[in-house]
Amino acid sequence: MPLKYNELSLPSPLVKKDGTRISTKQEWENGQRDYVAELMKQYMYGPIPPAPTEMTWEVLQTKTVYNGLGTREIIRLTCKGTTDEVMHLDLLVYIPAGDGPFPCTVGLNFCGNHGVEEDETIPMPDYVWPEGRQFMKRGEQNARWIPDYILSRGMALVTTCYHQIYPDHAFDGLKDSIYKLFYSQEKLFLAQPGKYSAISAWAWGLQRIADYLETRKEIDSSKLMVTGHSRLGKTALWAGANDPRFTVVVSNDSGCGGAAITRRADIGETLEVMNHYFPHWLTPMAKVIQDNVEDLPVDQHFLTSLIAPRAVAVASATEDTWADPEGEFYGLVAANEVYALYGEKEMSADYVPQGGEAVTSQSRHYHIRIGGHNILHFDWEHYIDFAFSVWRGNFKTFEITSGTNNHPSF
Ligand code: GCU
Repeated sequence: MPLKYNELSLPSPLVKKDGTRISTKQEWENGQRDYVAELMKQYMYGPIPPAPTEMTWEVLQTKTVYNGLGTREIIRLTCKGTTDEVMHLDLLVYIPAGDGPFPCTVGLNFCGNHGVEEDETIPMPDYVWPEGRQFMKRGEQNARWIPDYILSRGMALVTTCYHQIYPDHAFDGLKDSIYKLFYSQEKLFLAQPGKYSAISAWAWGLQRIADYLETRKEIDSSKLMVTGHSRLGKTALWAGANDPRFTVVVSNDSGCGGAAITRRADIGETLEVMNHYFPHWLTPMAKVIQDNVEDLPVDQHFLTSLIAPRAVAVASATEDTWADPEGEFYGLVAANEVYALYGEKEMSADYVPQGGEAVTSQSRHYHIRIGGHNILHFDWEHYIDFAFSVWRGNFKTFEITSGTNNHPSF
């Protein structure tokens, strides 16, 4: 049987390197937080690559969309590093009509920007597409992004394809990734998988979008919500843990290496299985510890704790057992100790939300959609409602909302 919350023997993010405990937010902010971030870097994700030495952008397209609900721009970012290489990131930028500045959600897509909408004027990807990865039809992932819904909520949306940052291929991806801005091809060729981790590269991409958004007067850059589904939910958490510009962090069905507690390894994906199929996602140290996860000095609540006191939402889907929904809930609850340093009430693990239910406790939110591994309208409704409640300071506490997929209004 998979372990329940009180049967888990979890390490505490408040325990210092010398074994003593901290008890104040000052101690957390002056040393302990960095130590916890360092542990997650060392055991799981490796470092996020440095910022580019130069980043410029050009507008490739501006178009009014959805009968005037907003505009859609295609922006090409050009990044340089310390080698002679140059990398582009092509962004789809949706901005609501009317007076801004608007809050903005930022997320990577799996499918290429052309998968977000059917519009033929969105260019097809012209960058390296990793072998074996599905090439989407136009608009095939529209139900995942629903830009018209997001715009209608008064929120901007920016997305770019993760393959343009690090093509998601275990062995061939690295040479075409943004690491080539900083390391020679020879060095990348000799590297073992994960030495330069893909999740850290994708998190770097999210940070570049934030850099760009800070230059836009239509965007309120104090209200950036970073989102991600599945492997990109793992990425959104790591980006959010490292970059305080993301004031709301969303993990949708992120599972192993995301919000789910690794020690509940007897349900869903294990670290070992993930490292086997995707050896480039995490740092090689994750492969060293995969056989003894009970001895791990960290677990995934360290990741959610690093986001405190900012807001974090974690969501699951009932049929998505591979991502261990209960383990994802525990990964959020177990950040209690750090959120408590900021005066937040504890979330209780006594009741685990069931299909269609949601629990919101000030800066933390959890919901579980009835259905499979996906991000859909129901999820976005929750995320956007939660984000606005946080930004307006109108915190909600412990509302367990109804057990259907009909989202009750906050
Ligand atoms: C696989 C993988 C998961 C990942 C998911 C996804 O199922 O095992 O770890 O989250 O792909 O990204 O869709």
